[in-house]
Amino acid sequence: MNEPDSDERDTIVARRSSALDGEVRIGGAKNSVLKLMAACLGAEGRHVLANVPDISDVSLMCELLEAMGVIVTRDDHRLILDVPAELHTEAPYHLVERMRASIVVLGPLLARFGTARVALPGGDDFGPRPIDMHLRALESLGAVFSTEHGDISARADTLTGADVVLEYPSVGATENVLMAAVRAKGRTHIHNAAREPEIGDLVGFLNAMGAKVGWAGDRLRIDGVERLHPIRSDSGYRVIADRIEASTYLAAVGMCGGSVFLRGAVADHMTMLIRKLTEMGMHIAPDAAGVQATATGRLVAADISTLPYPGLATDYKPFLVAMLTTASGVAIVTENIFTGRFRYIDELRRMGADIRTEGHHAVIRGAEHLSGAPVRSHDIRAGAALVVAGLAAEGQTEVAGASHIDRGYEDLVGKLVGIGATVSRS
Ligand code: UD1
Repeated sequence: MNEPDSDERDTIVARRSSALDGEVRIGGAKNSVLKLMAACLGAEGRHVLANVPDISDVSLMCELLEAMGVIVTRDDHRLILDVPAELHTEAPYHLVERMRASIVVLGPLLARFGTARVALPGGDDFGPRPIDMHLRALESLGAVFSTEHGDISARADTLTGADVVLEYPSVGATENVLMAAVRAKGRTHIHNAAREPEIGDLVGFLNAMGAKVGWAGDRLRIDGVERLHPIRSDSGYRVIADRIEASTYLAAVGMCGGSVFLRGAVADHMTMLIRKLTEMGMHIAPDAAGVQATATGRLVAADISTLPYPGLATDYKPFLVAMLTTASGVAIVTENIFTGRFRYIDELRRMGADIRTEGHHAVIRGAEHLSGAPVRSHDIRAGAALVVAGLAAEGQTEVAGASHIDRGYEDLVGKLVGIGATVSRS
């Protein structure tokens, strides 16, 4: 990925903070809204999405849709997408390289126009992220791919329902094939489909657009329909809450102590995380409106192993690692999804964390305290985890590269200040 343009407000400065309290609002899920926006390409007309987070990845997706001919209007967490009858069915490199998630336009474009050209995404900070499963799954429905000049060209005169077997429950591959299969002829089953809450949100959205999608045991079953339509609700479709944003504030409470209400957080989407945080000594009390998180005293170490949903999400890991750096005891953290996802650990070491890595494992020995240092954010969640760690470190932590954090957080600094943290943007 390209480093973002540096500007003078690209640093977040965190200082040691005492117990947090109050309330923080959890916004719409980044990993859902980007896919719902892509799904809108599947039907002509006006689409309205509500609870849309004000984050730069949404702006990038808007840019991509605009480049295709969609008219985008954004106001106060609402997004209106006017999708015309004809679209430019191309996703250019300068946009795809800035946001890999743009690959999910492939499925809806193929389904509606039988053709798409999408730049091949490059690697990113997690190491290589191939799209072989996306392509194989779409080939099962009848799509044909060729690669030229760094782009993937896709054609499908007709898409036909099929038994699609994913060798791994890839989130992106499940979404791409799902958005293609909704308009294929006949029935598709996706075996070993991803089950993340964001997949559930996409299924709900597609069904509201007229698709016929449901679970049949452990398979996702899709009965193709002739056409889709924008959802019939003036208030729009409400994006689910961002469980990863929620985990950020849970970690802040865990590290600083205190008691904070996470308004809008959905405990049912975070069952494993809540179980793990409880094991580490936090008290988490869900209710219909959100989640009350409380921490008193030092956390205790617990081993972590990332897995596809309903396992512990890899996106939670930077926050859990940050918490473990000051918990009492030793923990082993195992990354099973993205093997290269440990780069931020060097930054935590600069803050005095005692972490040893070996392949896809990390051994963390909790220190009494961290010490503030200049560090750099290389991706969205790791950057936010460094900010949270800075709230529990002696002195001052300067997290450079804050624009990475802006890709997935609406006003991280303002929300942390709102619950009593000492943090600012400079
Ligand atoms: C999505 C999320 C990301 C999260 C991840 C796993 C978005 C925008 N991003 O990413 O935040 O960390 O799910 O929960 O929703 N793989 C292949 N071939 C493929 C596809 C994937 O080998 O064709 C591998 C990947 O390299 C990775 C693993 O499968 O090792 C999981 O990837 P996947 O579930 O597809 O993640 P994303 O959809 O990219």
